[in-house]
Amino acid sequence: MKLNPLLCAAAVAFTMSSAIAGEVEVLHYWTSGGEAKSAGELRSMMQSKGHTWKDFAVAGGGGDNAMTVLKSRVVSGNPPSAAQIKGPAIQEWAAEGVLANLDTVAKAENWDKVLPAVVANVMKHKGNYVAAPVNVHRVNWIWASPEVLKKAGVAGMPKTLDEFFAAADKIKAAGLIPVAHGGQNWQDFTTFESVVLGVGGPKFYQDALVKLDQKALTSDTMKKSLEAFRKIKGYTDASAPGRDWNLATAMVMQGKAGFQFMGDWAKGEFMAAGKVPGKDFLCAAAPGTANAFTFNVDSFAMYKLKDAGAQKAQADLAAAIMSPPFQEVFNLNKGSIPVRLNMPMDKFDDCAKLSSKDFVDTAKTGGLVPSVAHGMAISPAAEGAIKDAVSQFWNNDRMSIDDGVKSIASAARNQ
Ligand code: BGC
Repeated sequence: MKLNPLLCAAAVAFTMSSAIAGEVEVLHYWTSGGEAKSAGELRSMMQSKGHTWKDFAVAGGGGDNAMTVLKSRVVSGNPPSAAQIKGPAIQEWAAEGVLANLDTVAKAENWDKVLPAVVANVMKHKGNYVAAPVNVHRVNWIWASPEVLKKAGVAGMPKTLDEFFAAADKIKAAGLIPVAHGGQNWQDFTTFESVVLGVGGPKFYQDALVKLDQKALTSDTMKKSLEAFRKIKGYTDASAPGRDWNLATAMVMQGKAGFQFMGDWAKGEFMAAGKVPGKDFLCAAAPGTANAFTFNVDSFAMYKLKDAGAQKAQADLAAAIMSPPFQEVFNLNKGSIPVRLNMPMDKFDDCAKLSSKDFVDTAKTGGLVPSVAHGMAISPAAEGAIKDAVSQFWNNDRMSIDDGVKSIASAARNQ
């Protein structure tokens, strides 16, 4: 039988393209309005390269639920292609020998040149890239409702904790909720680390929360931090326990609450609801922390897979994540800033421009510190232990400051 040469060529082309396309199953926890929109950008980019995106979203801000699900999938020998993990957890997974080496893509795309060293180091295990970074989130922010501030007669964003408490008193007196909070341990710690930074400054933050130095953890500065932290709780509402972070953001959006301590994924939430920064909501560094930047870098690690199509999809995912068009569109939606150096910022709003400037400036002054609440600083086990101790203090108004300090210090010591 004589074969039609045109059909043969088409069949070969089809086989080739199907051989290089694959399925990419991506585990993440981006399920709020702003987060889902951002994840959608990555999905579209992968689909446009011919790959099939299998969404593996596990709800739960901060990712604790997602990490539990991830462990059970990997332990049962059925890992997803990629998972949103970060900081020291990347090193722990790499040490288990389950992560794929991304050096070929990283070399071809020059990651060593286009990434800040502080980020590249976190993405590497024993010198090899094992994760691709998506963004830089800043954690030490407060968000505010200009409508609530106006009603309460608060002139502007508080720069110090004293100014913050004065503003909170006015909001309370106006019959509104001063602080929108969701009582979950990562949200408690998000507030806590900003307070420690505001009270003690970046060097103290490093000593106490990153180095877990007992002297710093039991110092008067830590006591002062716990006093301020407890005082903030007094400005939250009775329904805070268990509330999701994006519902707390919605309280600010709807003019029910004045402030929220939260990283800049909150901005993604405001933007997804069509709100305009500077007009419908305000951003500022958390009180007393303008000279510091708690960084939180989202990243995807790829798990070792045998299928060639799946491997190609992983390489394409890694390249897509680091590409300038993706870095721009994703971060415009997510509330973060691009992790790639020298990206144009003209499409970004003033909060992002401030973040970008402060990221560069604080790297020079020592004010750039890793977020503990968001898995960038210490081992997941140590992080879990001190988060629990901090939340126990937050939830128990009868625990004395001294006992709070002792319990946090002992949680840190036992790691
Ligand atoms: C992640 C963000 C996410 C937030 C709330 C943080 O730990 O880095 O990407 O939006 O948690 O889920």
